[in-house]
Amino acid sequence: MAVILPPEATADWWRSAAIYQVYVRSFADGDGDGTGDLAGVRSKLGYLAELGVEALWFTPWYLSPLADGGYDVADYRTIDPAFGSLAEAEKLIAEALGLGIRTIVDIVPNHVSDQHAWFRAALAAEPGSPERELFHFRPGRGEHGELPPNDWPSQFAGTTWTRVPDGEWYLHLFAPEQPDLNWAHPAVRQEHEDVLRFWFERGVAGVRIDSAALLAKAPGLPDFVEGQDPHPYIDLDELHDIYRSWRTIADEYDGIFVGEVWLPDSERFARYLRPDELHTAFNFNFLSCPWDATLLRTSIEETLAEHAPVGAPATWVLCNHDVTRTVTRYGREATGFDFAAKAFGTPTDLALGTRRARAAALLSLALPGAVYLYQGEELGLPEAEIPLQRIQDPMHFRSGGSDPGRDGCRVPLPWSAEAPHYGFGSVRPPWLPQPEDWEAYAADRQEGDPSSMLSLYRTALGLRRTEPGFGDGPLRWLPAPDGALAFAREDGLMCVVNLAAQSAELPGHTGFLLVSGPLDEDGRLPQDTAVWLRA
Ligand code: NOJ
Repeated sequence: MAVILPPEATADWWRSAAIYQVYVRSFADGDGDGTGDLAGVRSKLGYLAELGVEALWFTPWYLSPLADGGYDVADYRTIDPAFGSLAEAEKLIAEALGLGIRTIVDIVPNHVSDQHAWFRAALAAEPGSPERELFHFRPGRGEHGELPPNDWPSQFAGTTWTRVPDGEWYLHLFAPEQPDLNWAHPAVRQEHEDVLRFWFERGVAGVRIDSAALLAKAPGLPDFVEGQDPHPYIDLDELHDIYRSWRTIADEYDGIFVGEVWLPDSERFARYLRPDELHTAFNFNFLSCPWDATLLRTSIEETLAEHAPVGAPATWVLCNHDVTRTVTRYGREATGFDFAAKAFGTPTDLALGTRRARAAALLSLALPGAVYLYQGEELGLPEAEIPLQRIQDPMHFRSGGSDPGRDGCRVPLPWSAEAPHYGFGSVRPPWLPQPEDWEAYAADRQEGDPSSMLSLYRTALGLRRTEPGFGDGPLRWLPAPDGALAFAREDGLMCVVNLAAQSAELPGHTGFLLVSGPLDEDGRLPQDTAVWLRA
């Protein structure tokens, strides 16, 4: 069992934590209805403690019609009945904390569900009414208002505007079921501040902020012009004022934020991490980086350099519920920029991808800062092929079928090789089909096997907690052959990763902490293998 640190002794826990993302629908099913739920999570808290994670980030668990997997929230103060109840969420938060595991909830401030009371009231009200001012309602363009008010493209393909029966249009950067809120309206700000307090009062330690750089929109919602600065809805300066006021609330509760901030400009990204704004933001640059030593080193250096001036720790992420699973991605030819994107039928070599994913795990867990793991990553799950008729993700439908959508990384977890539905817990078939060849990935198959992905993660996470040199702190690059990365952390810890075809000589050391795969007969580090050493 992992070492448990008393919460009061670790005020800066978030600077170094290993945080596990729970996609509730697919984690474990406590009531057998085919959908994962809070009872399922509670039944697996022992597994999570043994894995050695320090916090859980729950993707939205609130009342939702699930038009976008819960990122369409109908009521922030109610748990979706498919998952459980508020009382059960409170129990879960307390039970997890009893095991030394903190809870992070997901807030989606850019939009709500079209079933949210505010939007229903807005639809029932007239153009120009106060109810509509909470959203972005506009008359259309064209002679009869038949054209959308502007040309913004949706993040889910297609237009960002939907017309309502009285002729007005409303804005939705994502699906039509996710109307955007008007962040220039004081009631929108007030409501979110109340929601933050609501969850901090229930004992959560942190909040993940969905689409954190999209909330503010340029006045007048002007058309998008290529190269326009500022962009009409990405990264507007007003956002910082919002997050500064959120920070004062978090500080009252010792809570923390992690922002979902996808921005190519590192200086603009770092602004969100100034000491009076967000504590952390996801580092998607590393996630999107192909398996290439030079590119990875550049990504790591840039990340550390952009965080240093604001004093924020970096976060390392290899996978989440929106991108292709790690072993599938790393088993493909490096494809540059759209490396993490979903694609139909891209050839992948799973043995290669698994070897690289093991090495990538040791790399990311040894870097300075916090690290996020996505459920199933510790089992080495590949991306699943979902039969076309079972796809549920709106991204697929809105792309006209060209994008497979994100269901392939959201398949219910395999817990037990022999049990129906791999022990996911469902009596009814799980909401997404599980592949027929997943026995070997089941947690119970991997548990006793020292060479399994699960064993690798358990050992690595255990060392990460007991070795003070890991987590937040300095990193010093060491000389390494071409195609390899080598760096030292404090307390004599070293990490070497070899991506080159030829095996690499290890630096002088006094012992091995962990290797991601077997060494060569002559003790050299083979291709796609990583090692933790003691200097
Ligand atoms: C980012 C979330 O991770 C994704 O799953 C969701 O579809 C969009 N934001 C919209 O909320």
